[in-house]
Amino acid sequence: MTDATDARLAAQYEAYPYPERDPRDEAKRLIVGSPSHLLEVDHWVFGARRPASQPLRALVAGGGTGDGTIMLAQHLAAAGRPGEVTWLDRSAAARRIAEARAAARRLENIRFVEGSLLELPESGLGPFDYIDCCGVLHHLPDPLAGLRALASVLAPGGGLGLMVYAPHGRTGVYMLQDALRLLAPPGEPPAQRVEAARRLWKQAPETAWLRRNPWLTDHISGGDAGLYDLLLNPRDVAFTVPAFAALLAEAGLRPACWVEPARYDPDLYLTDPKLRARTATLSPLQRAALAEAVTGNMGIHIVYAVRAEDPEPARPWEDPEAIPVLRQMDGPALAKGLPRDGTLPVAFDGLRVIRPMPRLAGAILQRVDGRRRLGEIADELAANGTPRETFWRDMAALRSTMEGLNRLLLAAPA
Ligand SMILES: C[S@@+](CC[C@H](N)C(=O)[O-])C[C@H]1O[C@@H](n2cnc3c(N)ncnc32)[C@H](O)[C@@H]1O
Repeated sequence: MTDATDARLAAQYEAYPYPERDPRDEAKRLIVGSPSHLLEVDHWVFGARRPASQPLRALVAGGGTGDGTIMLAQHLAAAGRPGEVTWLDRSAAARRIAEARAAARRLENIRFVEGSLLELPESGLGPFDYIDCCGVLHHLPDPLAGLRALASVLAPGGGLGLMVYAPHGRTGVYMLQDALRLLAPPGEPPAQRVEAARRLWKQAPETAWLRRNPWLTDHISGGDAGLYDLLLNPRDVAFTVPAFAALLAEAGLRPACWVEPARYDPDLYLTDPKLRARTATLSPLQRAALAEAVTGNMGIHIVYAVRAEDPEPARPWEDPEAIPVLRQMDGPALAKGLPRDGTLPVAFDGLRVIRPMPRLAGAILQRVDGRRRLGEIADELAANGTPRETFWRDMAALRSTMEGLNRLLLAAPA
């Protein structure tokens, strides 16, 4: 089902493929993020149980100019892992950029398909082990229909990586969208609307909430595509935690992980014992909803989702054969920089919290290189006089802090 607003959305991404990217930049850097970082997919979707040698059939639905596609395909290629990433989008302009980025990297594990994700059920595409849909569902005429279309091509045991907008961290956006509907109505040429938005941003008084919102920068640093996407988008709806969880449930899915998990734990900053007594009675979903309402800074939700009936994978944190891995961090450097007082200060979009670190944190992290098994690390520490039970106790504490930050994960087995 499409409508006039959806036709305008399609026109937007033809005029301003999103995000604004220059394929020449591929020579300088790989853009990484969530969802669809391969380490996250291995850990959060497959519970570090799915062999790396098993080909990964991935779909990036609404792939845009290619950020998720390029990252996942590059991760697979760099690790010599089999699989194919299917980029699907209905923007031909976005496809040209995504294809040029893939060519710049000489990636041969991407397939480009132009079309609507709403037509996936009858497309003949799939099934897919992993489906990315980042920043797309909230633009659709019917997000549930979109999610169901994705779920229809999900292979048994597979999972999705989703990102949708969240309301509180977007404070100020919808007010300026309202203003721009008056100043530069949707029917006007896109370039004219962008110009009006730029003029408005220059003149919007200091009371405009977006001026006070430091977490959104697309209108400042995202070029015309970013400005258009944020302030002129014909349709974007934001989901609270309960609303997004309800959407997942209606599509027969459930969250396997909210990223980063610690952000969704109100106990990180609610230390008052009387409040703690209350938070202890809440379900995980209620606790996540509370965290969202109290912090007020979440502008997106990133969720790894699996079928509601699939069992929670028990990640093998106590298995000596399991291989711990750091996501975008260097173990020795991290170990060297750790404060000596048994804490780790972290910040999530301005929310500063202090997390506990066990005594052996440095000794363990220094050995986490994505190759050593937990058992090998235990052996090395035992050779230095650390009892094994002390290792496993501190390892559990380290995991509790760093898995919650989405930083310490378990690698896929060979
Ligand atoms: C905000 S962009 C997100 C791009 C990319 N996923 C990312 O996160 O960088 C939204 C994308 O969804 C695509 N899109 C919107 N509706 C779609 C549909 N029904 N089928 C396929 N793609 C769609 C748009 O063309 C656009 O490229």
